[in-house]
Amino acid sequence: MSATTPAHVGVLGGGRMGAGIAHAFLISGSRVTVVERDQASADSARERVEKNVAVSVARGLDADLATLNANLTVATEHAAFADCSLVIEAVPEHLTLKLEALAATEAHLVDSATLASNTSSIPLAQLAARLARPAQFIGLHFFNPVPASSLVEIVIADATAPALAEQARTWVAALGKTPITVKDSPGFASSRLGVALALEAIRMVESGVASAADIDTAMELGYRHPTGPLKTTDIVGLDVRLGIAEQLQAAFGDSFAPPQLMRDMVARGELGRKTGKGFYDYSDDAAK
Ligand SMILES: NC(=O)c1ccc[n+]([C@@H]2O[C@H](COP(=O)([O-])OP(=O)(O)OC[C@H]3O[C@@H](n4cnc5c(N)ncnc54)[C@H](O)[C@@H]3O)[C@@H](O)[C@H]2O)c1
Repeated sequence: MSATTPAHVGVLGGGRMGAGIAHAFLISGSRVTVVERDQASADSARERVEKNVAVSVARGLDADLATLNANLTVATEHAAFADCSLVIEAVPEHLTLKLEALAATEAHLVDSATLASNTSSIPLAQLAARLARPAQFIGLHFFNPVPASSLVEIVIADATAPALAEQARTWVAALGKTPITVKDSPGFASSRLGVALALEAIRMVESGVASAADIDTAMELGYRHPTGPLKTTDIVGLDVRLGIAEQLQAAFGDSFAPPQLMRDMVARGELGRKTGKGFYDYSDDAAK
């Protein structure tokens, strides 16, 4: 079993997560092909990945920038994945979109290739519905921002080949990240626990128990969480967490019901750092 990353890795969707995943494999020595939905998105994806790679080199990565950039291909056709041994899907968190994207990708892969999803919360069993080779399908849940996050949650469906789960652990280790293995279930381990904590924190703000800042401080100082649940929600995006909460509510019941405050903030466009306002104000933050 290889202790290195695969020679050629594909990433479907070069947004926030896909660009981070592409960067992680590039700096670990793989060639990487990112496939986007159109040329403008492909150009933006290249820009994002190249920026991350340049930061790594500037910070002392022992690699040649031109070689790393030459190892990156961006394309708009799934056919560009033809000789990849691993392709990771990172398109937005919508079941129908992912079902179509995964089936279209699998059709262009060699039989031995692994197809993975970076889904935060959709059960793999649902995502595998249209796949011809579900034994070759696995969850590789990277965290945001990928370069700064050392965790990868490996999600194993009933149909996933046991040898693939073991191979995935070696790939994650070769990226310099730490794998945890989780059985396929809504929200896996991390999203389910993280969103449960955030929803309770939002309910506490809603009912005036304490301010967002004080609730975060309680968890940061009292429980040694590096970042409180409301700051984390601002980083992830309230819209993203609302979508996950709705899926968890459907699976586990009303303990995951999104609070009205969360719905109101999303409706007002207060999505967190990316819109300049969430539980905190980032309007003066150039790095939002
Ligand atoms: N943002 C996070 O904090 C986070 C963390 C972990 C996992 N995730 C998961 O990662 C996935 C991607 O999230 P993101 O935040 O990177 O989203 P994003 O919106 O930043 O990026 C999605 C990208 O997919 C592209 N895309 C859309 N449809 C496509 C298609 N049919 N073919 C190819 N590309 C297509 C878009 O152009 C965009 O660049 C989701 O499943 C999300 O749940 C997100």
